[in-house]
Amino acid sequence: MIIVKSQAEIIKIEAACRIVAEILEDLKTLIKPGITTFEIESYVESRIKQKKAIAAFKGYRGYPASVCVSINEQVVHGIPSRKVRIKDGDIVSIDLGAIVDGFYGDAAVTVPAGEVNAGILKLLKVTEEALYIGIDKAVVGNRVSDISAAIQKHVESNGFSVVRAFVGHGIGRSLHEDPQIPNYGKPGEGPRLKSGMTLAIEPMVNAGVPDVDILGDGWTAVTNDRRPSAHFEHTIAVMNSGPRILTKI
Ligand code: MF3
Ligand code: CO
Repeated sequence: MIIVKSQAEIIKIEAACRIVAEILEDLKTLIKPGITTFEIESYVESRIKQKKAIAAFKGYRGYPASVCVSINEQVVHGIPSRKVRIKDGDIVSIDLGAIVDGFYGDAAVTVPAGEVNAGILKLLKVTEEALYIGIDKAVVGNRVSDISAAIQKHVESNGFSVVRAFVGHGIGRSLHEDPQIPNYGKPGEGPRLKSGMTLAIEPMVNAGVPDVDILGDGWTAVTNDRRPSAHFEHTIAVMNSGPRILTKI
């Protein structure tokens, strides 16, 4: 069941989303070769606390941290660690969720650390473009899979692949609500989009094969061929005036 939100509810989701967006923006400058992924976790914890928000992922299905930090071939759900240090040439996906007044916001970015090779920078660019191309399809009257198909087309026409194992989602009083939003599929399928729907759209794009494995920690998803992967996510509201990106400052 898809929960349509009132204007007042969207304003609350936006409050959570703004905090996520601000922290992600500041992380873009903090992430440099030499820092550990646990330093990212500590920074996020302190900023979330300062904003009087709650870290949405911590404890979610037993996830042990406040932020997901996924490096290079790690697709999503990398767990911050004192032992993992970011190196020159790495790409770092940061996925963050916050709760404010009972409502969730969720977003992700992938940032380059130091000098990253051109092919990998293209992976980041195409993934972020795919996110915005998907968001452009989040208009009243379209169907969910119009978003999916547009993302898939952009990714595959650039020679990359979309991950099937994880999908975007509705969001509101829960982190994951209906509908599921795959990053692949034929257009014109699935539920019709209505004003007041709030969606987290999140393409995960691999340089090589779309398949993923889960590491022994039970969380970290890596590409099956161990080639790099990128992830960008926004929480948006479908409005009569068009899609409104809530996780943007
Ligand atoms: N953005 C991801 C999602 O929407 C983050 C979930 S991580 C988890 O599924 F740890 F909370 F599961
Ligand atoms: Co999400």
